[in-house]
Amino acid sequence: MVNAAKRVLVFDSGVGGLSVFDAIAASGKAFELDYAADNAWLPYGLKTDEQLRDRVPALLTRLAAQWAPEAVVVACNTASTIALEQVRAALNIPVVGVVPPIKPAAAATRTGVIGLLATPATVQRAYTNDLIAQFAGDKRVIRFGSAALVEAAERKLRGDDPDQSAITEAIGGLFGAPGGAEIDVVALACTHFPLLAAELADAAPRPCVWMDSGEAIARRLAHVLIAEEGAPRVRRAAFTSGDGARASLRAFETRGFSDFSHIAEAPSFALTSLARASQV
Ligand code: DGL
Repeated sequence: MVNAAKRVLVFDSGVGGLSVFDAIAASGKAFELDYAADNAWLPYGLKTDEQLRDRVPALLTRLAAQWAPEAVVVACNTASTIALEQVRAALNIPVVGVVPPIKPAAAATRTGVIGLLATPATVQRAYTNDLIAQFAGDKRVIRFGSAALVEAAERKLRGDDPDQSAITEAIGGLFGAPGGAEIDVVALACTHFPLLAAELADAAPRPCVWMDSGEAIARRLAHVLIAEEGAPRVRRAAFTSGDGARASLRAFETRGFSDFSHIAEAPSFALTSLARASQV
């Protein structure tokens, strides 16, 4: 029988892309899913635009050459909002990026006040300003940038307590800002943050809609690849930091990943097999 599964590479700086991966895996489409994390460079939100524009296309080009995906999902707002054009130019396959969910947030708010939680890079990007001007020009958007929340999500998926002070600080930054008491929708514009949705909702002073881009990306991917119905197959995961990867392998193993690799530093980005947590 012909293998109809479409092979997809999901990419992020760390475990954040797993929030997108989960939505893709739950979409009922016959994808074959690989994952790559540039965790040696985490957090992307504190890197310069130039650094990301150089590194992300080079890394993805190398991975695509080795794994031959039929599409790449850049499951990282910080990379997508600055380097998507360069990634598309470097690869000859469809590239799906994540953009801050400003449009659905603007449609969902009843108070007209939206919270925007992203990395320090994404929160101030021209791309983000343009989205707000285009889709939320008549709304009040209160922004807060946090790199500490990225680390808190990494900690949670390692099995450690997420740093409560990062969560408190982010919630205070949104709801404590002028007009913040009226926020009823929060756009989670970093793929790490849906992994902390329960903690964020618990810390918020009022019930809100917590909006992320995962399901929209899964729909977009199914459309772009004309994917057939079927169960997803989960395959390989690769990491630029072997030590960082070993700490969070359980989060990957529970999602069905069974083949782990280390990605060498630039320029080779060569893949070598990584021993599992249970084997070291
Ligand atoms: N998960 C990424 C995002 O969506 C970035 C996290 C980081 O700063 O590395 O923006």
